[in-house]
Amino acid sequence: MSFIELSKKRYSTRFFSSKKVEEEKIQLLLEAAQNAPTAKNNQPQHIYLLQSDEALEKAKKATPCVYGAPLVFLVCINMNEVWVSSTEKGADSADIDGSIITTHIALEAADIGLSSCIVRMFDSEKVKEIFALPSYMKPVLFLPVGYPSEKDQPNPRHYSRKLLSETVTKL
Ligand SMILES: Cc1cc2nc3c(=O)[nH]c(=O)nc-3n(C[C@H](O)[C@H](O)[C@H](O)COP(=O)(O)O)c2cc1C
Repeated sequence: MSFIELSKKRYSTRFFSSKKVEEEKIQLLLEAAQNAPTAKNNQPQHIYLLQSDEALEKAKKATPCVYGAPLVFLVCINMNEVWVSSTEKGADSADIDGSIITTHIALEAADIGLSSCIVRMFDSEKVKEIFALPSYMKPVLFLPVGYPSEKDQPNPRHYSRKLLSETVTKL
């Protein structure tokens, strides 16, 4: 499958089956995360792999968007290690690094027959409290991952893409 085909194939799954994700596939997802570019290659990420019943219960308390997934990545950024801009006051790459890492995992998942859903519907302070994260750890995104259930299908939004002429300016 070409990359452009893969980018079309990926969609947000919101009905997961309970089928567990094989360990070899989890390793590939983690490698895809490891290969992601980060600002200055600081690699400030810390990924919490939520698989146990207890951890998944906590995820469900933190966000309504677990969708029955048997595996959830909680992608966090260590704010002591993140790149900080010297040219723009207050700017850092935490959300950007975390989002790129999450995207790598999501696309690798699609490539190996898994589904995922990028999730930002949570309150950061609540997530930190529920998972007892250190104060310097910023939760960026959840990514539920697994096999889609039979009733799962892309939301109509998936097929709605703005025209390139609306989103691209050639200068
Ligand atoms: C930054 C970001 C945050 C998102 N947060 C959520 C979320 O909290 N819950 C959810 O169900 N989907 C969430 N999504 C999924 C988007 O709704 C979805 O990607 C978009 O509608 C396009 O559909 P597709 O992924 O099926 O192509 C999020 C996506 C992104 C990129």
